[in-house]
Amino acid sequence: MSESNPITQQAANEAVDLALAAFAAATTSAELKQARAEHAGDGSPIARLNAKMREVPKELKAETGKFMGQARGRIEGAYKQREAELAEKEAAERLIAETVDVTEAPVRRTTGTRHPLAQLQDEIGDVFIGMGWEIAEGPELEHEWYNFDALGFDPDHPARAMQDTFFVDPPERHLLLRTHTSPVQVRSLLDRELPLYVIAPGRVYRTDELDATHTPVFHQVEGIAIDKGLTMAHLRGTLEHFARQMFGDEAKIRLRPNFFPFTEPSAEMDVWQPNAKGGARWVEWGGCGMVDPNELLAAGIDPDEYQGFAFGMGIERTLQFRHDLNDMRDMVEGDIRFNRQFGGLV
Ligand code: PHE
Repeated sequence: MSESNPITQQAANEAVDLALAAFAAATTSAELKQARAEHAGDGSPIARLNAKMREVPKELKAETGKFMGQARGRIEGAYKQREAELAEKEAAERLIAETVDVTEAPVRRTTGTRHPLAQLQDEIGDVFIGMGWEIAEGPELEHEWYNFDALGFDPDHPARAMQDTFFVDPPERHLLLRTHTSPVQVRSLLDRELPLYVIAPGRVYRTDELDATHTPVFHQVEGIAIDKGLTMAHLRGTLEHFARQMFGDEAKIRLRPNFFPFTEPSAEMDVWQPNAKGGARWVEWGGCGMVDPNELLAAGIDPDEYQGFAFGMGIERTLQFRHDLNDMRDMVEGDIRFNRQFGGLV
């Protein structure tokens, strides 16, 4: 009677079947690795069977070794095959997941543009810097004295009345939102050495309702020049050059007598707008004049030694005349489609 074998072919087949079923059930490489540890690693059914090899009777060792070898071979083979299948499947899935549609229309991010008024302000600065002038700034929240008193506005001047000026509480501090850039004239006279050639572009405020021709916040550019022997001719020449830089070589200016409390004589200045829709015409561009001797005296300057001229024009008006724009609101509403027409990417 032959001794019984602790390792049966059937047990080996069962271990193989379990392993093959586990490998087939694995749907990812990670699951397959796990299945391999359970069915081919230490402690797996096949490994536990194999451990009994020592107990197999001598005469059965060859035969048992052979079918056990075949069993391990089948497990290893099935593993390799499933490994290859899953690797291929995962590679295909990755390709799909990472597909780039090169024909897809890109999402365009719209970039902003600088506001045409800001661009124009810079351009005006360049014109004057080109003539050796300097750029000055003053506060928008201004003291009444700089905005009115120092410029010769009487305390009962109509421009001080509530309907034009935004006064800022409390009244005893005498603060307001500057109604023009002319206070920078006074600040420049007090702060700077002579001779002086200064422009001051910036924001100004008046209590107007927003409509096609008014906006409560707008921009002016102030100019003031103080030197020995300056005359109206220098003022006119400067303004003519400025106008040509703004409106082209054909540009002309015209001065009409006017009154400002801080210039004597004073003039309203018109510019010829050749491209206006209704036909070429004169349009009012700003105010100007020779700096009033009283303003010079107030700043401690001897008017017999130094004279000067000053001017102030609206930057919105300048943009309007250049491009024949009719509605002021386009400039304040910030619609990017309006702004973009002027180019000037940031
Ligand atoms: N500040 C004046 C205004 O706003 C314009 C001006 C400036 C007039 C300089 C003369 C000289 O109307």
